[in-house]
Amino acid sequence: MSSAPVFTVTRTATPATAEGRAAAASAPFGTAFTDHWARATWNAAEGWHGHRIEALAPMSLHPAATVLHYGQQVFEGLKAYRWSDGSIHLFRPERNAARLAQSAERMALPPVPEETFLAACEQLLAVEQEWVPDAPETSLYLRPTLMGTAADLGVHPSPEVEFFVLAAPVGAYFAGGVKPVSIWVAQDFHRAGPGGTGQAKTAGNYAASLLPQQQAVENGCDQVLFLDGRQNRYVEELGGMNVMAVYGDGAVVTPRLTGTILPGVTRSSVLDLLRAQGRDVVETDLALDDLRHDIASGDIVELFACGTAAVITPIGRLKAPEFEVTVGDGGAGALTMGLRSQLTDIQYGRAEDPFGWVTTVS
Ligand SMILES: Cc1ncc(COP(=O)(O)O)c(C=O)c1O
Repeated sequence: MSSAPVFTVTRTATPATAEGRAAAASAPFGTAFTDHWARATWNAAEGWHGHRIEALAPMSLHPAATVLHYGQQVFEGLKAYRWSDGSIHLFRPERNAARLAQSAERMALPPVPEETFLAACEQLLAVEQEWVPDAPETSLYLRPTLMGTAADLGVHPSPEVEFFVLAAPVGAYFAGGVKPVSIWVAQDFHRAGPGGTGQAKTAGNYAASLLPQQQAVENGCDQVLFLDGRQNRYVEELGGMNVMAVYGDGAVVTPRLTGTILPGVTRSSVLDLLRAQGRDVVETDLALDDLRHDIASGDIVELFACGTAAVITPIGRLKAPEFEVTVGDGGAGALTMGLRSQLTDIQYGRAEDPFGWVTTVS
């Protein structure tokens, strides 16, 4: 393994004030950013070069850049947490590094070496320490991104690529905080198909989810649930989160990773926590008909979504044109909220980390 690169730091002449940072932390999710970003550039001749941290500013991109026309882009999302002693920590960042590399491979982008990914996050955090908020449930969200930038309308992988990491102080993902959300089952739309890009974290998957997500909102729901593209029968995931169902006997069922579902870091962590509790955890094909039936019969007592941004969020209602079912009494379930506490206690250093998931940054 090669050694971690050093990102040359050029600080902004106009950093935000303490008041500016505080205002940013209470802005809607992902709309306010820190003073700096980390960047590196790739081309075939030089490989990765130009590792730098500099003032965040609009970037110059040729209008023919590959990413703008053919969506050659992959990204990640992870959070830095401030503990009560002031120290700063990342949660399983090597998982995000590995997933970015897998996504990059699918999108014919050069992989960012793990040590470069980690160095970009950690060195940016060193510069932006003051931006990691300390209020409950807040964190500094990191958005590593990789994209093809060559001015070239030919449909082929870009010979020039840019990697960058943005940082945004964030609070709760859903405006209402932690309360049960309602889910709309996508009609006639799929986010992924066999052999497609479903398990890659790439822009196009999210572009495809925007219209169904809009329809979810029009139908009074917070998020959209996608079914498999082959049979339109099996539950896959939400627009930006994985999903799990809790049965009355304590077993937890979640869709298996078929290649069309994003393998969530939170999903994997939750499965580990559940297995450590001695629970029966089943990764399988979960038919919408069964889900709906088992919710209506009361066999499924809790349903929840999980992902970095929203952590673990209870689902209170599942809706489609032909049915609407309420999960349990529609409130937040005990297992869901207990898991949420267990996970956030590890992330915020309030509990032991028996799995070795936490990386100390400073
Ligand atoms: C489509 C989709 N599924 C699932 C997840 C959850 O993944 P993670 O737990 O790694 O954040 C995300 C968020 O990254 C996502 O965008």
